[in-house]
Amino acid sequence: MIIQRFDDEDALASALATRVRECLLANPTLVLGLPTGRTPLAFYRELRERHADIPWSGVRAFNLDEFVGIDKTHPGAYHAYMCRELFDHVSIDPANIHIPNGRAEDLKAECRRYEAAIAAAGGIDLQILGIGTNGHIGFNEPADGLCAHTHIAELEQKSRESNAQLFGGDWQAVPERAISMGMATILGARSVVLVATGRKKADAVYGLVEGLITPQLPASFLQVHPRVTVMLDAQAAIRLKPDTTR
Ligand code: GLP
Repeated sequence: MIIQRFDDEDALASALATRVRECLLANPTLVLGLPTGRTPLAFYRELRERHADIPWSGVRAFNLDEFVGIDKTHPGAYHAYMCRELFDHVSIDPANIHIPNGRAEDLKAECRRYEAAIAAAGGIDLQILGIGTNGHIGFNEPADGLCAHTHIAELEQKSRESNAQLFGGDWQAVPERAISMGMATILGARSVVLVATGRKKADAVYGLVEGLITPQLPASFLQVHPRVTVMLDAQAAIRLKPDTTR
């Protein structure tokens, strides 16, 4: 695990955008796993600002998760978020945008379809992740057991609260369920970059880097992955020893 520290979230976002650009220059048909949430907003802003400099046309993008029961055009939907923050501003082929359909009639079949689509693309080359304050990745919430593949997740109140701003500030308006990539879907990516900013993430980051591997902190499973970079601002890194590199 490589730990990278940055003075602030803008420096972090710029470094991450540079890394994505380099990956795309090396492999224009890269399969890119993408997160939502507040954390990647600065990164998406960077990608928008540098869009002319980044070869988007061959990229195949797979989002980590989507809420169940709302239309993809609902302002709270991750699909709408991705269009607003990135896809509407870059030359990605719409056919290469993949986000679970939270309004599918048969949600289990949708989970299987999504997992199969990732496999058909050859698996994810670079997966970018945020982390929940409870240590979730995607919507793999802390539990006694975790799901391997794309599945329907029941959201913790904490996770619904942290998405409240997408639903007019009302956490109870946030759907109770989401479709999420599973742990094996995420750990199957050839490279993973996890991004965390702010003091609220410091405990989860500490568990991810220093703790035991436990389903009570799903991000801790990244310790078994051979190619993980954790990119942190000073506040998110505050509980790590200054020389922590693993
Ligand atoms: C969300 C998403 C995660 C995200 C996390 C952190 O709800 N499902 O993919 O990484 O919670 O979000 P934020 O960046 O807003 O703190």
